[in-house]
Amino acid sequence: MRNEELGMRNYKICLLPGDGIGPEVIASARDVLTALPIQWDFIECGIGYGEYQSSGSPLPDSTIGQIRGADATLFGAVTTPPNIPNYFSPVVRMRQSLELFANLRPCKSIPHSSSRAGIDLIIVRENTEGLYSGIERIEDDGDRAITERVITRKGSERIIRKAFDTARQTGRKSVHVVHKANVLRQTCGLFREVAVEIAKEYPDITMNEMLVDTCAMELVRAPEQFEVIVTTNLFGDILSDEACMFVGGLGVAASANIGADAAVFEPVHGSAPSLVGTGKANPIATFLAAAMMLDYLNENESAERLRNAVETCIANKESTPDLDGNLTTGQVAERVIGKL
Ligand code: NAI
Ligand code: MG
Repeated sequence: MRNEELGMRNYKICLLPGDGIGPEVIASARDVLTALPIQWDFIECGIGYGEYQSSGSPLPDSTIGQIRGADATLFGAVTTPPNIPNYFSPVVRMRQSLELFANLRPCKSIPHSSSRAGIDLIIVRENTEGLYSGIERIEDDGDRAITERVITRKGSERIIRKAFDTARQTGRKSVHVVHKANVLRQTCGLFREVAVEIAKEYPDITMNEMLVDTCAMELVRAPEQFEVIVTTNLFGDILSDEACMFVGGLGVAASANIGADAAVFEPVHGSAPSLVGTGKANPIATFLAAAMMLDYLNENESAERLRNAVETCIANKESTPDLDGNLTTGQVAERVIGKL
């Protein structure tokens, strides 16, 4: 019987293994996804330093085209090579050329001694403008360096809406809008002004404001007070790295890059060159990125099953050495599959 007749949906997924441990964690995630009652068409595409060495570009146009044409993309990691002229960051280029404007990073307590309890927050970071606008210049014969911090009404509107929609969809009741409008009066002022307007469209969600330095402190003091944090690019980059350290660190930190017509899901970690081939790369960050992808595809039941299986494995220490287990990458995948 064909899968369509069984009522199974069929998704086209672009896989970007990349460099280092990327191919190992993506292969494990592919096995886990395949074990779910969903039909997948996987297509693997090149990205990163290895891709540059074979094709001359770290992000070929063909890869961008496949991401655009897929229902969703799962990305491993890339290695940043030593200074090569003409080399560009394929991750930044991918986010910009596909306008993946929202970077979502959930931080949820895991059943492990390295994790604090009671945390379940999502950081919604603007991913395309702010201080990472890429507009920089040198003046005064190299004695003065300037970066332009660009905040637009359109960019602020879509990221703040994304934060309030995320709160609603996940049953959360509050959004913290994090800025520094007391000093950055124009840029953060505009971001804040847009937030106050948009919050009126969501009477069921409470909007709280917090200055970014206070937020950095409050995240350490009492992280359980936050449900959704929305902020500009650099602030979000820093706060999300800070927050993930309370809930197990890089082996379990997952993220999503979401645009209007494409979405890329990835573990937060890099290519971890020293772990390549050792079996010590924890695939759970990639599994949790895959769970976010399932939610994005409205396969919420499968997403929940995957998250539950992962939690059980962590609690049982059926894990890689970073979470006190003695299993390999592939063995963790087998244990997770056994619990689906
Ligand atoms: P990294 O994230 O690769 O590694 C940092 C530390 O975490 C290392 O001790 C590593 O062994 C450990 N680690 C990372 N992933 C792990 C996993 N899945 N399981 C267990 N332990 C894990 O960051 P690092 O070392 O600063 O960078 C290595 C390369 O990755 C560089 O070339 C860097 O530019 C690149 N990178 C790529 C990113 C991406 O593709 N999105 C993000 C960050 C770094
Ligand atoms: Mg970062």
